[in-house]
This record gives sequence, structure tokens and C-alpha cells, in this order.
Amino acid sequence: MAMFNIMLYDLFRSMLFQLPAELSHDMALWALKNGGQYFIPSVLTPSQHLNPVKIANLHFPNKIGLAAGLDKQATCIPAWQKMGFGFIELGTVTPQPQAGNAKPRLFRYLEDKAIINRFGFNSCGIDQFLENLSRFVKNQKKCLWGINIGKNKHTDNNLAYQDYCLCLEKAYFLADYITVNISSPNTQDLRSLQEPDNLSKLLDKILTTRLKLEQEYAKYVPLFIKISPDLTDSDLKSILNILMSRKIDAVITTNTTIWRPAVQTSQKNAEAFYAQSGGLSGNPLFDLSLGCLKKCADITSGNLPIIASGGIDSVAAAKLKLAAGATLVQIYSGLIYHGPKLVRELITEL
Ligand SMILES: Cc1cc2nc3c(=O)[nH]c(=O)nc-3n(C[C@H](O)[C@H](O)[C@H](O)COP(=O)(O)O)c2cc1C
Repeated sequence: MAMFNIMLYDLFRSMLFQLPAELSHDMALWALKNGGQYFIPSVLTPSQHLNPVKIANLHFPNKIGLAAGLDKQATCIPAWQKMGFGFIELGTVTPQPQAGNAKPRLFRYLEDKAIINRFGFNSCGIDQFLENLSRFVKNQKKCLWGINIGKNKHTDNNLAYQDYCLCLEKAYFLADYITVNISSPNTQDLRSLQEPDNLSKLLDKILTTRLKLEQEYAKYVPLFIKISPDLTDSDLKSILNILMSRKIDAVITTNTTIWRPAVQTSQKNAEAFYAQSGGLSGNPLFDLSLGCLKKCADITSGNLPIIASGGIDSVAAAKLKLAAGATLVQIYSGLIYHGPKLVRELITEL
């Protein structure tokens, strides 16, 4: 049965890959939302859940997480749980609904197992998001739920803290952890929130709000910060020192890159690849992201847990990230190109 389902998945995926990228993306999510989980072979055995990792006061059932951006509306949770993820990061969600950037805004490069996207935080807004998420609360919860929060396009950076604090307040009750996303390249100037002065001010506001919520709900929700792979060494060092001094619970390294490394893709596609703006993910991001992770591990010397994201598409790749200092890994593009069997391999081997 499991083998049949894997073949079915491969067939489904090769059909989807014939379609424009965002259409196939939407169709896949629709299928996952509407019963697709029944076609996913169950990977969880009790022993696979007996391999927990504790960071930030949370017990992660295993080391494998779904990276943010695939389930921006929190509608496919049973499917991710069935795949066996130990944690799923939902969002990025913004306070108000917004459409995101103009289409086309999603591009696949099959030969390189890469994706470029410039979605720009298309979001149903935090209220709808939480309504979607609360539908699943009564179901048996099998993994940890992170909520990744961002700011609306038209919110000035000086007021960005209001957007983050609003999402934090609303999502606090349902979240196992919250990720503050200041590293997407697709919202103008968002990345300047990583600049040390801006970051300190933003975090102080967010931490004050978290303290208030912690007392109100008698519940501590860890805060993770997701950073870009495109930072200079000196900015990276300053950022990590700020995160450690504020006792942020973990750093996620990394988001997508605006850099375009050399790729295998054919000449015709290569021109489009180098010209395309947006964030690059998948295999060509791996080395850059691993380099950033190694620097993070070096600077933080075990004082800040690291979650690795960026180009993980095999057990070997995940092992390199863990050996470099990550405690957990997240996948996005690897799941698109290799399907749920990658999740199973990672759970079994790590
Ligand atoms: C289409 C797409 C949309 C994404 N949207 C988000 C997002 O909304 N928030 C976020 O923090 N990261 C987002 N990401 C980045 C991923 O979470 C991940 O950090 C990045 O793609 C690197 O991992 P990968 O190489 O396994 O894809 C997105 C990535 C892709 C490909």
C-alpha cells in the first residue's frame, strides 16, 4: 500500500510539474487540504516518536520540520502530521489580509531542484488564519505548531513592531512557538529590520508584549528569529549578539537568498534564472546557508539553539547541517522535489 501511494504521489507530481508553478502549487495544497492525507503513507511508528529533541523548553517529537511558506493559511495540518513532521511552521501570516506581489511570482528550475519565489507575504490575515488553525485543535495533535509572523506591505518599518505584536498577541494562545520573520527578500525593506538598531528596538517591543502574554496566559511561548543568508559577517555577529543578549529562544538559519549561484540549468533557463528577482531556495542555496549556519555556531558557541533551513534535500544534507551545529532541520523545496518519502527518510535516519 505504501509503495502504491508513493507511485501515486510520483505520478501526481509529474502531472503537476507540467503546469505553471503557482497553479500546481495551489492544486497540490487544495488536494492536501481536501483529503490528500489519506494518500500519504503513514510513517509514524511509536518508536519514531520516541526520539524527541528538547530545545527552548519544547519537546520536538523528531528533528524534522516543515519550513514556513508552504502552509501560509494553516489549512493542511492533517497532511503534514501524517507525513511525520515533528514540527510545522505555518505562515508567514500578516495582521491584515493581503494579495502579495503580482503574478507570475513562483518559478521552478527542475534540473537544479531550485525554486525562486517573490510571493511577498500573500496572506489571509491573522483572523482567518487562526480560524483555520482552530479547526484542527480538537484533533489529536501529533507535532508542534510554530506560527511565523510578518508585517503588512504598507506598514512603515517604524511601525512594524505593531504588526508583529498584534500577530503575537492573537496567535499566542494557539502557538507552540512563534517565529519573527524579518528576512524575506520579497517585502520591500523588510530585511532592514535585521539592522542592529532596528532589530534591538523591534525585539524590545516584542519581548515586552511576550512578557505580558506570558503572565496573562500562564504559558511561555518561545520566540524564534529567522535570518537571511545574505548578511555581512559583521551584521551576522551583531544580530546574534542581540539575540543572545535578549535570550531569544532559537535562530532559524536561513531564509531564501537574493544571490544567484552558478547553476546546472540549460542555457535558455539560465538566462531566466539569473534575471528573475525573488528569493532562491532549494539545492543551490545549500552551501550558502550551511556557511551561514557554521558562522552562527561559531559565534554563539552553543548559547543559542540553531534550526537549519536551506537546501536540505537528502539525509546526507541534513546530517551536514546537524554536524555544523543545528539541532533541528526544516524543509520546503526538498519536499516539493522529493515528496513525502524525503520526510520519512529523514525521520528514519536522523
Ligand atoms: C514558495 C516559497 C515561499 C516561502 N514563503 C516563506 C514565508 O512566507 N515565510 C518564511 O519565513 N519563509 C518562506 N520561505 C522560505 C522557506 O521557509 C525556507 O526557509 C527556504 O525556502 C529555504 O529552505 P528550502 O531550500 O528547503 O526551500 C518560502 C520559500 C518558498 C520556496
